[in-house]
Amino acid sequence: MTTNPSTAAPSPLAPDWLAVPDDLNALHEPMWAGGVERNDGGELTIDGLAVSDLQRQFGTPLFVMSENDFRARARAFSDAFNDAFADICGGVDVYYAGKSFLCTSVVRWVEEEGLRLDTASGGELAVAARAGIPGADVALHGNNKSDAEIHRALDMKLGRIVVDSLAELDRVAKIAAARGETAKVMLRLTPGVHAHTHEFIATAHEDQKFGLSMAGDSTEQAGLSAAEEAVAAASGYASVELLGLHCHIGSQIFEPDGFALAAEKLLDFLAAMQAKYSIVLPELDLGGGYGIAYTPVDTPRPAAEIAQAMAAVVRSKCAELGIAAPRISIEPGRAIVGSTTFTLYEVGTLKTVRVDAPAPDAGDPDAHAAKNVTYPRRYVSVDGGMSDNPRPVLYDADYSAILASRASAAAPQLSRVVGKHCESGDIVVRDVYLPEDVAAGDLLAVPGTGAYCWALSSNYNYLARPGVVAVRDGSARLIVRGETEEDLLNRDMGV
Ligand code: LLP
Repeated sequence: MTTNPSTAAPSPLAPDWLAVPDDLNALHEPMWAGGVERNDGGELTIDGLAVSDLQRQFGTPLFVMSENDFRARARAFSDAFNDAFADICGGVDVYYAGKSFLCTSVVRWVEEEGLRLDTASGGELAVAARAGIPGADVALHGNNKSDAEIHRALDMKLGRIVVDSLAELDRVAKIAAARGETAKVMLRLTPGVHAHTHEFIATAHEDQKFGLSMAGDSTEQAGLSAAEEAVAAASGYASVELLGLHCHIGSQIFEPDGFALAAEKLLDFLAAMQAKYSIVLPELDLGGGYGIAYTPVDTPRPAAEIAQAMAAVVRSKCAELGIAAPRISIEPGRAIVGSTTFTLYEVGTLKTVRVDAPAPDAGDPDAHAAKNVTYPRRYVSVDGGMSDNPRPVLYDADYSAILASRASAAAPQLSRVVGKHCESGDIVVRDVYLPEDVAAGDLLAVPGTGAYCWALSSNYNYLARPGVVAVRDGSARLIVRGETEEDLLNRDMGV
């Protein structure tokens, strides 16, 4: 197949980071699941299954997930961290963050690959229970757990309840005491480290809803942080077994520095608490947040690199403090499931608008009068949108897309992939070069939609939420069926 002209000029409407691809048919490997490729006819396939066949069988929009890729990423993460920490604390417990994407099949894969499960609500616990994962391998998070959720955690004999506040510690202790049980508890602390993708900031205070502040003046008791007050209180409750400390510094983070700084701060605190209260805190959970590639300019570090950087810091900090290293755990969600999945959409309406923009040579007085220059932007509407992926709307998240049902030799055209909702902000991919012959009936694939897409999906405009198909070794099966109109209507009481 001849490829698109690589010499096409970039559109002045495109963001600086978006290059005109050399070949619009090529798949930028870091964004895609293993097993996704074009077949000889130019159509996108996953484990040999053509996307047009998947559409015929399951419809669109559709989340298409590679089970093998999920399992491989889960193992890779677990192996990388276990290797890096083997000599420090005997390895790492990896809790898959179910909030990123959860269903019973995924819980089973997680368990079969030797990982544990991080949940954040009673509903997520219900999925865990239905999948049959042992409670000992499950953690429960949340800044506002209900009594019912705490009871459920105790019913399921969870391995850890991650307590978020002093008030919650008290409630957990009382509920466990009333049941004649002991709750296994971690304390979620806010180490004052915030990270986002390429950078992190460190502050004394955390102005956010989660966790116990480590700042000295964060409680009524002068000089005692909320974190310390919680350690003192937890060690005093007979119905609480204080396992250790937890932090989570953000999401979609590429560089290890923020994780390393948070680990140092928590280890300082852990050592101080062990000495002051004559206790042992055997566990330290450093949360999730490892980033993935959504576009060709995203360059996440391999898990091994991050694991080794974190291990080096934990090793030297524990040596400096003269303490035995606690058992480390982590909670990756996006980094395991994000790239396993692409969303398949069918193209409908197309339209091209012309948009004012400064001419590329606007600095040159002899060039065209910049204010009169307009450039084309093509809107490519698909059969889903912000209801199956609200991340562009919520977080200004960038995605990428390719023409999936066929290859094309047409020239690149700056395009905006939009959904079918009654909102002008309903954008799926803000800026992407697609072949200019993209037409109604074509299929587009948007990679990197495994995390926080289905999980955040809605029924806005009464759209039915798409199903999730798992592909393994050349066969596809629904692991979550798509909603039907009946599903949409059956909670409407009509009274
Ligand atoms: N652990 C805790 C305590 C968390 O709060 C989270 C994510 C994770 C682990 C997993 O983080 P991950 O490895 O997936 O980055 N909806 C946002 C992301 C919210 C993350 C919430 N907490 C998004 O779509 O970007």
